[in-house]
Amino acid sequence: MLPVFDRFFELIEEEPLHRFQRMFKTQTLNRLNERPHGREDEWQAVLKSLPNPTEPELRFRSGVVELHSAEAINPQALTEALAALRPWRKGPFNIFGVEVDAEWRSDWKWARLAPHIGNLAGRAVLDIGCGNGYYLYRMLEAGARCAFGIDPTRLFSFQFQALQQLQPQNAAALLPLLDEDLPDCAFFDTVFSMGVL
Ligand SMILES: C[S@@+](CC[C@H](N)C(=O)[O-])C[C@H]1O[C@@H](n2cnc3c(N)ncnc32)[C@H](O)[C@@H]1O
Repeated sequence: MLPVFDRFFELIEEEPLHRFQRMFKTQTLNRLNERPHGREDEWQAVLKSLPNPTEPELRFRSGVVELHSAEAINPQALTEALAALRPWRKGPFNIFGVEVDAEWRSDWKWARLAPHIGNLAGRAVLDIGCGNGYYLYRMLEAGARCAFGIDPTRLFSFQFQALQQLQPQNAAALLPLLDEDLPDCAFFDTVFSMGVL
């Protein structure tokens, strides 16, 4: 399992959702085993090649999810690593100065939605069909205390893993699950599902 999935289990330890921990783990393993992806070894190698800056920071600038580091990062190696995880459908991201060439301007969609959603401050948020997690970061920016996402597309888990590996741990997490895998738990304060139905 990717370490990024463990982060989900760590976060739910602190929340009433921990009752469902075993169920989430079993469902995750089932989903991973039932449809292994042929490019997983290649994507794992990309994760291993990523730099390990000591004090990376997550920032937001005009809808761009950015990572910053005081340390110099080799832009060419990073560009190649991120390119090997293409296609990046959702963005924009800027990772230590390297712009990720995303297919969609998800910031435009968020800007349209933002006036119509309640205040996310302190809320536990779920994003069903979260893609690579772009909106999970925007939900944290909006003050969510945790932002959980589920999405079955394996590449998106690797993209999210890459982003999480490059920055300090935050309260965003993703599992490779389908909507039907979720327990009836009445836990989340706000649930998003955008562009899935
Ligand atoms: C068109 S994309 C939308 C992504 C993002 N929510 C957005 O608004 O940009 C649809 C996403 O839903 C995911 N998806 C499809 N069926 C799903 C299901 N049953 N449960 C959860 N996610 C699903 C896909 O993997 C894909 O990432």
